[in-house]
Amino acid sequence: MSDNIQESFEGTRAAGIIAAGALDEVARIIKPGISTNDIDNLCYEFINDNNAYSAPLFYRGFPKSCCTSANHVICHGIPQNKILSEGDIINVDVTAYKNNWHGDTSRMFHVGEVSVKAKKLTDVTYNSMMKAIDILSKDITLGDIGSTIQTYVEQEGFSVVRDFCGHGIGRVFHQEPNILHYGKKGSGPKLKTGMIFTIEPMINEGNFETKMLNDGWTAVTKDKKLSAQFEHTVGITDKGYEIFTLSKKGLNQPPYST
Ligand code: MF3
Ligand code: CO
Ligand code: CO
Repeated sequence: MSDNIQESFEGTRAAGIIAAGALDEVARIIKPGISTNDIDNLCYEFINDNNAYSAPLFYRGFPKSCCTSANHVICHGIPQNKILSEGDIINVDVTAYKNNWHGDTSRMFHVGEVSVKAKKLTDVTYNSMMKAIDILSKDITLGDIGSTIQTYVEQEGFSVVRDFCGHGIGRVFHQEPNILHYGKKGSGPKLKTGMIFTIEPMINEGNFETKMLNDGWTAVTKDKKLSAQFEHTVGITDKGYEIFTLSKKGLNQPPYST
């Protein structure tokens, strides 16, 4: 691989490890009674302790260091004093910025014991991301990613959110191309060695319609049913792909029993 690709992979790897490490810490504190601000403080401290910056903090005016999106919140929930209760499901999304490179990742967390349907939604969302990652190579197209996710998710009776997508990432947080989580097999441009982007499917229990809350950030399901999301930052190599945001502790999906 060229020097430039090697440099961007090394940079993204370092940022990705920090973002994933923050989520490993979140797994240790999630329980009924903590607030989403507690999660935010932990992410801020962890990223800071690792000599990195939190990319969301003050990004286009976003006020916090991570996104916390519970139950019917699809994405970009703002940490608050809200206390988590038994049965809640919540996505925590962290982006570390280290030596000018970004690593972006999110996972679902279960607060105490959650419903069977919440568990199924979590599992299907995680599997949809991993099935798409599994097929990554320089020989597939962007449409292959979307169609892999959409086909599987709809077969399981859930829907794929259209209003938000994955993105190229590197020195810039959000860049070309958009990575749609739905689409047609074989459509769109081919991937290329050296590309770095996120796959971050948002999957709804009901239909895929979204609504924006008055804070201008929080996206929720219009039908108020549950939504789930996972996110990895990945890179395309000559041989296949690399995932930059895997958990070093194997805490990639719930249950996170350690
Ligand atoms: N991390 C989110 C993503 O996956 C973006 C968060 S931007 C924020 O792209 F401003 F909402 F934090
Ligand atoms: Co992202
Ligand atoms: Co993210």
